[in-house]
Amino acid sequence: MKEITKKLPSFPGKAFLAPMAGITDPAFRLLCKEFGAGLVVTELTSINAIVAKERLLKEEKKKITEFIEFSEKERPLSIQLFGSDLKMLEKAVKIISPYADIIDYNMGCPAPNITQQMAGAALLQEPKLTRKIFRTLVENSTKPVTLKIRSGVSKPDKFLKIAKIAEEEGISMITFHPRTIKQGYSGKSDWSLIKKLKQSVTMPVVGNGDITSPEDTKRMLEETGCDYVMIGRAASSNPFLFTQVNDYLKTGKYQQISAKRKLKGFFSYLKYTRRYLSIKPSSIRMQAMNFTKGCMGARKLRGDLLGVNDVETIEKMMKDFYKSL
Ligand SMILES: Cc1cc2nc3c(=O)[nH]c(=O)nc-3n(C[C@H](O)[C@H](O)[C@H](O)COP(=O)(O)O)c2cc1C
Repeated sequence: MKEITKKLPSFPGKAFLAPMAGITDPAFRLLCKEFGAGLVVTELTSINAIVAKERLLKEEKKKITEFIEFSEKERPLSIQLFGSDLKMLEKAVKIISPYADIIDYNMGCPAPNITQQMAGAALLQEPKLTRKIFRTLVENSTKPVTLKIRSGVSKPDKFLKIAKIAEEEGISMITFHPRTIKQGYSGKSDWSLIKKLKQSVTMPVVGNGDITSPEDTKRMLEETGCDYVMIGRAASSNPFLFTQVNDYLKTGKYQQISAKRKLKGFFSYLKYTRRYLSIKPSSIRMQAMNFTKGCMGARKLRGDLLGVNDVETIEKMMKDFYKSL
């Protein structure tokens, strides 16, 4: 086993924000960080896209933050990569690792546009290539490398072997979403597999899948023995969940969040979006719809928001709704 010289940073909370393409933009990550997320991870980023920017970065005509937007306040920040061409991977890791605190590698994405490139979760069935990928990542990164996986392709039969290879190659932490590619997001994630994984590796394990409340978080930690949890969809409609989880784990109690407070969270998010060029009005609209999930009387608002594409109108509609509460 390779010696791990690159230590993981310390995490201020047990619950991490899951990477979610189209949702976890830098403004949303910052908000979750402020609400107590222990770690935030960028959306998956193509190694080819990073390498394509190499010349501009070298000539100092562009800064990395023009391609992958983030702020110092998000740290520790994990940058997630996907792609399996080893030469590209080596270059991309060398470019990106000085800026990240952690490099995360995606072997969990089931989307056909990713798996058809022999990337994401498709790699679960390629142990030899996977070993080379891990070696390339670890040898060329100046920061710890972590991994995010699913359980298998059509059956949950790949994760233990891949995790073992990961550990042998010096991967520092593993996030496990115990669903197969075939399952997509259907059915339930099988937390008993997280327990199995935790029992078979020595690196920290991050359990992921279907956490919707502080109680779920505690249950996953207790039932599986995992070291941390990662929360995705539930955080997208309630970023306050991180505060609730932290309070619950510390005191056994947490505050319910009123609709008004939730909307205030949206207005903070909106303020942060103004710092980033990459966040499109359509994403802001989607976040507005997410933030109103579970608010009484918001169904009509969400219907009305559907056709709106300018941020001022979105803001006005959200303010009017806030006043009506
Ligand atoms: C809209 C969406 C986008 C996602 N994008 C990514 C991604 O970029 N990288 C990744 O590793 N996982 C991605 N995921 C998977 C989540 O990180 C997480 O593993 C999954 O949603 C299960 O956690 P949850 O039940 O808490 O949502 C995405 C999930 C959703 C719903």
